Amino acid sequence: MEKKDIDWSNLGFGYIKTDKRYVSNFKDGAWDEGVLTDDDKVVISECAGVLQYAQTVFEGLKAYTTEKGNIVVFRPDLNAERLEQSALRLEMPAFPRDRFVDAIVETVKANDGFVPPYGTGATLYIRPYMFGSNPVIGVKPADEYQFRVFCTPVGPYFKGGAKPITIRVSDFDRAAPHGTGNIKAGLNYAMSLHAIVTAHKEGFDENMYLDPQTRTKVEETGGANFIFVTKDGTLVTPKSDSILPSITRRSLVYVAKEYLGLKVEEREVFFDEMKDMAECGLCGTAAVISPVGKIVDHGKEICLPSGMADMGPVTRKLYDTLTGIQMGRIEAPEGWIKVIE
Ligand code: PLP
Ligand code: COI
Repeated sequence: MEKKDIDWSNLGFGYIKTDKRYVSNFKDGAWDEGVLTDDDKVVISECAGVLQYAQTVFEGLKAYTTEKGNIVVFRPDLNAERLEQSALRLEMPAFPRDRFVDAIVETVKANDGFVPPYGTGATLYIRPYMFGSNPVIGVKPADEYQFRVFCTPVGPYFKGGAKPITIRVSDFDRAAPHGTGNIKAGLNYAMSLHAIVTAHKEGFDENMYLDPQTRTKVEETGGANFIFVTKDGTLVTPKSDSILPSITRRSLVYVAKEYLGLKVEEREVFFDEMKDMAECGLCGTAAVISPVGKIVDHGKEICLPSGMADMGPVTRKLYDTLTGIQMGRIEAPEGWIKVIE
């Protein structure tokens, strides 16, 4: 398909309706075969499980145009696995993993005119999701579900792209101990909206959430995991049962060890350690790696030595290697890249 007339280099992180989306329905204990459709509207009962009790889970991944001109997606098998984990936690049926990957491929292929060209800085964000669709009034899981995949071309998640951002320590918690922080459920994001709106009003780009039990350990932000670089060049990333197992973070841990020869620690990270860190970044599909220049804790500023002008040197190497793998400039580990066309 011919490329759409879009100003690729000036895209923000927003929704643009594309031509096709994938839909499959679950009824009487089975998924139907699924179709691509032009219809971007969802019609469900006023009493649908998703509307009453927020029974919905989702994923996020991207398609890239490589240096050679292929369209590829990054590790969709891991999104398939995570969607399954999320669905099971909310008593929803699993969508078969191989069918998940096929649905991604079909949706991207059907919208290939919307995949941003190589070198524009933009990518195609893909949003698979599933929700309870039949009427539910007593608190219980739905019996019928819809799985959908749409996509939209996007630019950077934070305005300014790779420019360091300022975050604040949130007084609100993102997840409860033994709650749903480790799955990708809409409910985790609904409850973060007040915190992000007030953060923006106060001039901050994002929230740093601490562990809800002790409020001494760093968890993650509303939409990304954390990475830190210590002054001796070790990559440190928080380990917690209540954060999302980020595919970007897991990939960066591998890249740091195997491509860059860095020492990596995945462990509890105490907020008290922030003052000793050399670099900090948010990592995720949407965020890629967004450098953090300043962390504000109730008026007390912690300024990272990497500053507010550019990414720190280790963050830069991680960013260049990860995006190099995604865009086909650097050889990928086996199985990381799914070529679509
Ligand atoms: N943490 C949260 C809360 C997220 O919403 C996301 C985005 O998906 C991530 C972390 C990063 O995960 P991934 O790298 O798999 O996109
Ligand atoms: C993603 O990175 O895919 C996410 O879902 C984060 C979201 C805040 C846009």
